[in-house]
Amino acid sequence: MKAHILQLNPILIPAINEQLATLYTVHRFYELADQKAWLAEHGASISAVITGGHTGISQSLLEQLPGLKVVAVNGVGTDAVDLAYCRSRGLPVTATLGALTEDVADLAMGLLIAACRNLCAGDRFVREGQWELHPQPSAIPLARRFSGMRLGIVGMGRVGRAVAQRAAAFDCRIRYTDLRSMDDVAHAFVPDLIDLARASDALVLCAAADKAEGIVDAAVLDALGPRGFLVNVARGRLVNEADLTAALVAGRIAGAGLDVFVDEPRVPLALRQSDAVTLQAHRASATWETRTAMGEMVLAGIAQALAGQRPSMSLTT
Ligand code: 8YV
Repeated sequence: MKAHILQLNPILIPAINEQLATLYTVHRFYELADQKAWLAEHGASISAVITGGHTGISQSLLEQLPGLKVVAVNGVGTDAVDLAYCRSRGLPVTATLGALTEDVADLAMGLLIAACRNLCAGDRFVREGQWELHPQPSAIPLARRFSGMRLGIVGMGRVGRAVAQRAAAFDCRIRYTDLRSMDDVAHAFVPDLIDLARASDALVLCAAADKAEGIVDAAVLDALGPRGFLVNVARGRLVNEADLTAALVAGRIAGAGLDVFVDEPRVPLALRQSDAVTLQAHRASATWETRTAMGEMVLAGIAQALAGQRPSMSLTT
């Protein structure tokens, strides 16, 4: 008999879905009309959960799955899973560590350049026929050079390092902050985020959000200053979004490139209306290559756990 799997988010790679369907009976939680009634009837039969990094899984849902043998996170962030609780249950939680580093760093660079050079406003200007109406070069304000910028990286893990590597090719001067200085990183460590913001033209958030909520607030944004840019490819809640919106609207920072938000998919209207902001719908890992690699890691973790082995990507067991 096939093991039953509960899937909390869609997987966008057909080959991964086919493999899942071949090996397991897959229940798509997000398609169920009455999730509560379904759980009461079928919760005990579930052996594995697949969830997204942002979605995670609530403790109350975990408690309704007493036969669970693994939580496979199709992502690297585990901030939406109570790891201590899973540890107490001896439950492996796997993540796709390393699979999405390059794509997330690529998107960070894209957002940085898009924000500094006002790419999206420029695109709209041409697309909406404004160029023909206002052919004079003064119709679009001059942008800010990205090459050579002073970059402050917040979180020097896999993604932070990949951003640093890319930014070095643009002659950026790189400093970073993290919980501690790292011996294997050549860039200058700045312990205090406000100091880092003051010494940077752009801050790039690459940190895990497990212990850091609202760390980018009005004081940090003011230290970044009216010529400064913020890029976030980590988690929305690292930023105090009300402070960010106020700073952008008042021109207290120059612009932002954002892939993640506090209450996804809801994005504050003021951010959506601001030409100084480049927006993405939490898509930093959304390429065929990365999502395929992530899906394979999810499959491997589930297979190992259901075979009674410790999944090699387990963070809790
Ligand atoms: C994932 C994420 O790609 O890895 C993470 O933590 O937030 C995402 O970028 C997402 O969870 C897709 O499932």
